[in-house]
Formats: sequence, structure tokens, C-alpha cells
Amino acid sequence: MKITGNTKVIGIIGWPVSHSLSPVMHNAAFEHLGLDYCYVPFAIKPECLKEAMEAVPALNIVGLNVTVPHKEKVLKYISEFSEESGMIGAVNTLKLEGNRLIGYNTDGIGFTNSLKEAGYPVAKHSLLILGSGGAAKAVAFQSAAEGVKEIIIANRTVSKALSLKNQMKEYFPLLKIDVTGLSYDELKVVTDMVDSVVNTTSVGLDKGDASPIPGEFLHKGLFVCDLIYNPSETKLLKYAKEAGCRYVNGLGMLIHQGAASFRIWTGIEPPVEVMRQAVESTLFP
Ligand code: ATR
Repeated sequence: MKITGNTKVIGIIGWPVSHSLSPVMHNAAFEHLGLDYCYVPFAIKPECLKEAMEAVPALNIVGLNVTVPHKEKVLKYISEFSEESGMIGAVNTLKLEGNRLIGYNTDGIGFTNSLKEAGYPVAKHSLLILGSGGAAKAVAFQSAAEGVKEIIIANRTVSKALSLKNQMKEYFPLLKIDVTGLSYDELKVVTDMVDSVVNTTSVGLDKGDASPIPGEFLHKGLFVCDLIYNPSETKLLKYAKEAGCRYVNGLGMLIHQGAASFRIWTGIEPPVEVMRQAVESTLFP
């Protein structure tokens, strides 16, 4: 990669940010297409967010990804939001237009596009979402926007699942949304009722973690997605494989949220396979 006086700068703000795979993914795409862009990490402490955001137009940084812990706090420094980021109340992508920063959220579309790639569009299906944090919210809103038939939100803290349901009802009043806890009996009932399930909790990130759903509840015909991509096969996915389910891990969501951000910044179709290879070879050298 050759950086010149004309090179456009894109970056990611987060704290910490050193674990992010986005620099590798986007720089591989820029290089592959011969685009005069570079993508750099900015480790921004929470107390420095205001100054960092003020610097974006000043430094002519043309685009940003936003990650933990800034995704929600950044809202107050931007001029305009896309519809989905307004619903979700968080942004993961910013684009500089003139002096104005426009916010987007590509996490949800990353999820639905990764399922489409696996031959499973969410439209008209019922979806069990495990968890009620930021990732669950993006998954839930985008699935609703794409015509999911029914959503069940299961969370350890049931009040948080209820709060997500209530937020969704403001935008999708006719959508059937149920809420439940994560007990053995509750999960048995709801897993039987749906044709797809997505794990958005952190259960599975540690290799020794149990599956968030007991393996015996996974029935053939169920489509299973774990947003975790490292390890590449969590216990949940191992059980899904054993039960004969179709399944994907979270790598596709990571790639497709990046692809959607890339389109926003450049207006150019991203080289998805190049991006995937760059990420895979970094994660699993
Ligand atoms: P993210 O932005 O990745 O979604 P988050 O907003 O911190 O992260 O949300 C984490 C989710 O994982 C929450 O739904 C959390 O459940 P609670 O709302 O009850 O805290 C869930 N989670 C984390 N650890 C868990 C565990 N050991 N068992 C069950 N759920 C867990």
C-alpha cells in the first residue's frame, strides 16, 4: 500500500481497539481494488470522545467505524442518522459529508446478509434471539425491517428483554414479539416454536463455556447462528452440527457489516471474498 498526499483516511474508534479485525479487512479491500484509501485504528479513551469527534472534520477523516464503548455515546456528536441507527440508538459507521458527520448502523444488515449468503433469508421465519444487548438490538431491528414473522427474545435478565421488546413495538407495532428467560424449561418451549435461533450473548467466547441452549433442544430443520466467530465452532454450533441443523458462525456478520460500511464510504461494491480471506488468515494463521 502506497500512502500519498491524496490518500483518504478512514479509521475505527474504540477503547480498546487493538483486537479489531477491521483494519486488516478494509486495507485488503482497498489494496485489492487499487483505491487510494487507508484504514487506521484510533484508540480513543472514553473521556476523549468529544475531542476525537471534533477532530474528525478538522483532520478530514472521511469515514469511521465506531466500536465499544462509543457506539451510543457518539450519537450526540453527529449531525444526522440513518433510519436504522435511529431505531437502534447506536452507530457503528460514520461518513463525513462536507463538515457534517452522518451516522449509520451496519451490524443488523451484516447479520441478515450473512444469513442470506447461507441461503436463509430471515423474511417470514420465526427467530429466537438469545441476549438483549447491543448486538441483539441490531439483529432484532434489522430482522423486523426485513419482514421476520415472529421474534422471541430470551435473556438472563428478563427485564432487559422486555425493554427491547417495548422499543421494537414503537416501530413495529404489528410484529409478534415474545419474551422469556433462559431456564431449561423456558428454552425447551421456545426452541420448539421457532425455525431459527441466534446467540448474541457472550456465552461461548471462552472455549470451556457451555452452550446457551442444551443440545437436545436443537431439532433438524432449525437454522442456528452464533455471532461468536472465535472460536469458530462454539458448543452451540457443535450441537447444531450433530443435530443436522444448518448453521453459521459470526464471521459472515463481521464481513458483511464491513462490506456495508465500505459501500457507504466509497460507493463501490466491496470485494467480500478478499475481505473474508484477510480476516480468516489473521484469526487462524
Ligand atoms: P453486545 O454489545 O455484544 O450485545 P452486551 O450489550 O454487553 O454485549 O450484551 C451482552 C448480552 O450477553 C446480554 O444479553 C447479557 O445478558 P444480561 O442482559 O442478563 O446481562 C448476555 N450474557 C452475558 N453473559 C451471560 C451469561 N453468563 N449467561 C447468559 N447471558 C449472558
